[in-house]
Amino acid sequence: MLISLFAIRALKAFIHTRYGPPEVLRFGEIPDPVPGDSEILIKIHATTVNRTDNGFLRADPFIARFFTGLFRPKNRILGSEFAGRVASTGKKVTLFRTGDHVFGFCEFGAHAEYLVMDEQGTVATIPAGLSFEEAAPLTEGAHYALNNIRRTNIQAGQQVLVYGATGAIGSAAVQIIKAIGAEVTAVCNTNNLGLVTSLGADRVIDYTAEDFTITDLKYDVVFDAVGKSSFKKCKPLLKEGGIFVSTDLGPFAQNPFLALITPMFGGRKVLFPIPVFDKEMIHYLSDLAKSGKFRPVIDRLYTFDKIPEAFHYVHTGRKTGNVVVTLET
Ligand SMILES: NC(=O)c1ccc[n+]([C@@H]2O[C@H](COP(=O)([O-])OP(=O)(O)OC[C@H]3O[C@@H](n4cnc5c(N)ncnc54)[C@H](OP(=O)(O)O)[C@@H]3O)[C@@H](O)[C@H]2O)c1
Repeated sequence: MLISLFAIRALKAFIHTRYGPPEVLRFGEIPDPVPGDSEILIKIHATTVNRTDNGFLRADPFIARFFTGLFRPKNRILGSEFAGRVASTGKKVTLFRTGDHVFGFCEFGAHAEYLVMDEQGTVATIPAGLSFEEAAPLTEGAHYALNNIRRTNIQAGQQVLVYGATGAIGSAAVQIIKAIGAEVTAVCNTNNLGLVTSLGADRVIDYTAEDFTITDLKYDVVFDAVGKSSFKKCKPLLKEGGIFVSTDLGPFAQNPFLALITPMFGGRKVLFPIPVFDKEMIHYLSDLAKSGKFRPVIDRLYTFDKIPEAFHYVHTGRKTGNVVVTLET
């Protein structure tokens, strides 16, 4: 029974062999992936299209080519997040069994019907109560948020401002920072004031009506989760010794340089952490979801064949939280 349930028929995927807009994506077949001894084969039921996928599709920023292939993409299948069922396991696998519901982060390869992951990689069992659609967006925005939160060492009771609280990173950041016990002031547009309040923000500023930099409140950390502000603008908001952290390079790619220079002088500083993601972090996010303290915000659902449309939407830079893609179960 299990064999017929999980038997691989045709393995379809979105393939890109050159950089460009979503029109370069081709819906085609790939050779059946075969799990090695310590790997699991996952039948994907939900994936996402996020800003990272969109950057890799278009090689934007250009510097991405140094990781993904200078002239042509080395990884022909995009898609960094997935949720699905374990279809088969290698003979040395001990952490998962066929039929387990799993989610995780793979960097590339999730815009396909099947995916192979090492059991020690960033894959974990889906927390009880979460659907495939809810589990797929647990990792991408959240692990970038978590990297910045850990690097800035946000503690319970601190004052934190999250600018761009409605992005995949920002919406995860608000929830994770609240789970730590810090006080969050979040900045978003008028339509999302209710949503961001429901994520746990203590104060919400509508950036279309108010300048968030004009306030008497001082922060331990200002987290620019959408990369649209700057250290110069946010410095007056910081307490002595406060930290500005951003997900983006900033004006004239200044953030990495400021992260080198500002810590030398003491006082307010910039951090620009290199993101990492490991098994411990995926379990942290899974536990947070299990406890109900973290639920990824889902903006739109697309079917698998509509992945190019999903890329167009993500490229607008206006999505609220995450864009999820569903595959046949
Ligand atoms: N460091 C890394 O490795 C890394 C990895 C992934 C992404 N990134 C960068 O991180 C940033 C955020 O990623 P993401 O996936 O969270 O993006 P996202 O989900 O696409 O962010 C979109 C959200 O940002 C809000 N936004 C856009 N412009 C804004 C502004 N000027 N002020 C306030 N809110 C604004 C939008 O709300 P409105 O509708 O109000 O505009 C929308 O809800 C991107 O710039 C991306 O390049 C960095």
